[in-house]
Amino acid sequence: MKRTLVTSALPYANGYLHLGHVAGSFLPADLYVRFLRLVGENVLYIGGSDEYGVAISIAAEKEGVTPKDIIDRYHTANSEALRAFGMSFDMYSRTSIPRHVETTQEFFLDLLGKGFMAEKEEAQFYDADAKMFLPDRYVEGTCPNCGYDKARGDQCDRCGAYYNQLDLKNPRSLVSGKTPVVKNTTHWYFKLGDFQTMLENYITTNSATWKDNVVQQTRSWLNQGLGDRAITRDLTWGVPVPLAEAKGKVIYVWFDAVLGYISATKEWANERGTPEAWKDWWMLPEGKTQAEAEMNYLAFLGKDNIVFHAIMFPAMLHGRGNYVLPTNIPANEFLNLEGEKFSKSRNWAIDLREYFAEFPLPQHVDALRYTLAMNMPENKDSDFTWRDFQARVNNELAAILGNFVNRAAQFLQKNYAGRVPELPPHLAKLPEAWRLLVGDVAAYNADTAEAAVEALHAKYLHYFSADDVRIIAALALGARKIEANYRVFRFRDAVTETMNLARAANKYFNDAAPWKTIKDHADDATKTLYICSQLIRSLAIAFEPILPHTSDAMLTLVQAQSTDKHWQSLALPLVNEGAVMQEPQILFSKIEDDIVARQVAKLGSNTHSETMTQTSSNQVPNDQAASNQVASNQTSQNLISIDDFKNVQLRTGKILAAERVPKSEKLLKLQVDLGTEQRQILAGIGKAYTPEEMVGKIVTVVANLKPAKLMGLESQGMLLAANMPDGSLSLVTPEKAGIDAGADVR
Ligand code: MF3
Ligand code: ZN
Repeated sequence: MKRTLVTSALPYANGYLHLGHVAGSFLPADLYVRFLRLVGENVLYIGGSDEYGVAISIAAEKEGVTPKDIIDRYHTANSEALRAFGMSFDMYSRTSIPRHVETTQEFFLDLLGKGFMAEKEEAQFYDADAKMFLPDRYVEGTCPNCGYDKARGDQCDRCGAYYNQLDLKNPRSLVSGKTPVVKNTTHWYFKLGDFQTMLENYITTNSATWKDNVVQQTRSWLNQGLGDRAITRDLTWGVPVPLAEAKGKVIYVWFDAVLGYISATKEWANERGTPEAWKDWWMLPEGKTQAEAEMNYLAFLGKDNIVFHAIMFPAMLHGRGNYVLPTNIPANEFLNLEGEKFSKSRNWAIDLREYFAEFPLPQHVDALRYTLAMNMPENKDSDFTWRDFQARVNNELAAILGNFVNRAAQFLQKNYAGRVPELPPHLAKLPEAWRLLVGDVAAYNADTAEAAVEALHAKYLHYFSADDVRIIAALALGARKIEANYRVFRFRDAVTETMNLARAANKYFNDAAPWKTIKDHADDATKTLYICSQLIRSLAIAFEPILPHTSDAMLTLVQAQSTDKHWQSLALPLVNEGAVMQEPQILFSKIEDDIVARQVAKLGSNTHSETMTQTSSNQVPNDQAASNQVASNQTSQNLISIDDFKNVQLRTGKILAAERVPKSEKLLKLQVDLGTEQRQILAGIGKAYTPEEMVGKIVTVVANLKPAKLMGLESQGMLLAANMPDGSLSLVTPEKAGIDAGADVR
């Protein structure tokens, strides 16, 4: 029987998950898994926390706590946040469990036994005070290439150069601050080169169905030739190397992390009382190829993880023998936030926890899922903005889907005593005709609902108007298109097509105008509302992967929870005539401007200070073998050029008038003299300053900011303000007296 195993990259348990993680590797996997389950396929969805490696130990050192404290805190918080976000994992595990240690050591020993490992002694920096070897994240120095004085052990964040640790000039240990000595140490190397040909074939076989960026990245690694990779480290936090002569050494985090998928599957199998069942997903049956066994394995992740899943992991699995390899690696690019990279340290981030604190309702979970799905960084980096979020909720979820469901439900309440209407006798066979029509639409293979109407309406004149045929055909065709998009991981298109179905339903209600027909063609109105009741169920199924909570609410509304919840029956009339409906609830409430303004204002402010290491998966520390070739085209710092800076026009301005914006705690409406002109600026400083004290002040203004609307009022610039330690704000004003409006600030 065909099986599909799905994994999402295991995030480091050293920080809270933010929207970037979610859009990159969690939401697409969940959409896909939920879709496959609706289709009735056999699918298993596995995830968990990545809990070893320097990313964790550095976070612990910064806080002066143990690594265990760190992973417990973040694993708990993150698994809860993911559950709240509606992630439908079969198992969300963690790599610090004993089963994982066993699995990793077993792989290590097996590959060692098969001759895929080499033991080598090489020189490395050693901190004599701390008595430890320094992995690359623990040493800093001057870049041998560009002279940058904060270059990392193996890689320069300024020029992108990648070099041998020992070439770093003026090295400093980040542990003791002292100059490290050079000392020999032994490590085990995974002989990736042994897998060169096998991996080339693997990529060739799969390249037709993989995303271009995945194929390209993988090919470029292969073209450079694969060499030995150190997979042990002189550290204490990690899976111990299971060899007597390797005391004090642990297995490199990337080697163990990918195996976390397998140990999590074992954990799943154990919890359900079938300890061997993990093999059904990971191990090939005797004598069968993966294709023959119909075993799919999809690894969802962000682009910085490609090489580990397209090269390292397949080599490890193949070396071990009889394991499945990823059949696809639908890697995403990165999500930005309001045009900039996520950065925890600059508080330019939205983590799931914060989002739920502000938006606690089930409808808000769905709203976020929808917005992120519509902005998924599928083929290039994309952007989350609060404005777009607001527009998606107000103009799409509320104005299209919510509006249709609400209008239909209200109409049913008012005119049909809150029941799904019973069809009049002459239409008793309409459900049957509906099924035939759906079959005809499929057989006729029309591209558009309109074409289906032209070809098929005549046959169904007794039952259906052209509008009826159009909407039924739209459901049948839509289900097919959406499916086609999910199958090739085009989530934005799948979701767009899903919303198009809701759009069509809305139009159907408008065009059929039951509020008119009910007056003298009551049977028509009855039929329309019968169809609308079916549409509510159909849309609930179509939206289930994206909006699981809303989908539930819609099914409950028309008492269709127990009807066949399959993709295949999406377009069929399965809601019972006469079913007593629930009181309609508003599915999506509009997001007001001030809410958006408040969220935007929070970004970049230091109101909550996090000392954690960044956890955006693109900004995790790279250590030694982690990413040599990719390193050369990654710079993890956000430095801007002088020209970028010159693009920002700063000018002094004088406040001429100030008043509070009604209904807003924070916003002041200011009239500002910029020397050459007067501007209206809305500033979120109302908690720190009264309107009265603002008048006459000289402030610093960003003069060339795009105008924006806040609470319906135009704002034509921005004031600079500094965050005070207590969380309040202090305006940035010129220090010397005698400055008037209009001075350039540079
Ligand atoms: N923790 C890694 C990151 O955040 C991802 C690990 S994915 C796994 O970049 F495959 F190794 F689990
Ligand atoms: Zn450099």
